[in-house]
Parts: sequence; structure tokens; C-alpha cells
Amino acid sequence: MTAASGSSVSAWPHLFTEGAAGSPVLISLHGTGGTEHDGVALARELDPTAGIIAPRGRVSEQGMNRWFRRLAEGVFDVDDVEAQSDEFAVFLRAAVAEYALEGRMLVVVGFSNGANMALATAIRHPDLVGHAMAFSGMYPFGDRDLSGSLDALRVLLLNGRQDPMAPYASVARLAQSLAAAGADVERFEWDGGHGITRDELSSAREWLAGVAATR
Ligand code: MLT
Repeated sequence: MTAASGSSVSAWPHLFTEGAAGSPVLISLHGTGGTEHDGVALARELDPTAGIIAPRGRVSEQGMNRWFRRLAEGVFDVDDVEAQSDEFAVFLRAAVAEYALEGRMLVVVGFSNGANMALATAIRHPDLVGHAMAFSGMYPFGDRDLSGSLDALRVLLLNGRQDPMAPYASVARLAQSLAAAGADVERFEWDGGHGITRDELSSAREWLAGVAATR
């Protein structure tokens, strides 16, 4: 596991591990108050052989790391969502070059606030990141609709139906909007709230193996 060097790639604090030759690269994003080490732990649960880019959110909310600002719980500063995800894409392009990851399958994965950032990044930059896995994520763009084609995007949404932080209506809107834009969307739902369950992890592993095999 190495920390970054170089100019644009060091603009975002992160940990990197190369993984097995030809394995997917999991770009793994922690939830509010987490760190890059949480991202590494989640990625290792999903595929212990994968490459990992585990960054740390650069926004601080009362000392807690986040990926973008929010006005209240579940009410996002959508300008900041867009700006942060665009800057994150610049960092990712630099990381792909720095670590020679061209040709590897890039999968952005996150939990909670990290899931929302993962979704925003994949939706705005599907040419860069064609696969997204969102644990306890929701629609990240407030009242703004999606625009453009997402034909190249494959998404797995994993949600508890009673999650107060990722309300079911927002998740349904997310899934419908993605599908309407042409994305391939799979969902795993469970009766529960905000968190990551064993069943979700095993569905995520299956999905990952499936997309890697049919890529
Ligand atoms: C967010 O702010 O992205 C969601 O409300 C989840 C969280 O609390 O981090």
C-alpha cells in the first residue's frame, strides 16, 4: 500500500495498492466521518485481489471527512456535489496515468456519503468510470434531473428499505433516472436501515464477478 506522489495525483489524499495483474481497480469511498482506511477495508471485503484507490473526502463537517457539503441531513449543496465530483474525476484521470491503470476495469464504490459521491462521479463521468456500487446511497443531485446518455454505465444499488438517511423515494428516483438514461441498474434491497450487511456484501461480490466476466 503506497501513498501518492506527483502533482495532480497528490491533490487528493489517498492510499493505493496495485492488486493482481488485470484485476479490477476499486475506487473505494468512505462514509461521513470515515477515512481512506475504511475505503481499503470495504474494497478488501469485495475483492481481496483487486487494485485499490482509497481517497479521503476533502470536505470537513465539524471535523468529519465528507465528499461534498450538505445544507442538512439528506439536503445536498448540489453545486458542490457537481464541483467535487468533477475535481475527483480530474484526480482519477491523474491516478490512472500515475499508476498505469489504463485497460483495468475501474469500479467506483462507496458507503453512504461515499456512495453518493461514487454515483455523482460515475453519472457525470461514465467515460472514465463505467461501474458503480452504492451501499446506502441516494439520488445525489437534489431537484436537478440527469442529462445525457448513460448507456455505458453499470450500477449496483444496495439499500435498506427503511433507511432514514437514504429515503426509499430518493433511491427509487435514482434507479428510474439511471435506467431512463440507459444505464444497466441492478438493485439489492433488504428490510433495514443504514449500513452494510453480509448479504449485501455477497451480492456485491457476485455482481462484481459478473461484470468483470462480461466486460
Ligand atoms: C449524505 O450526506 O451524503 C447522506 O446524508 C449520508 C450521510 O449522512 O453521510
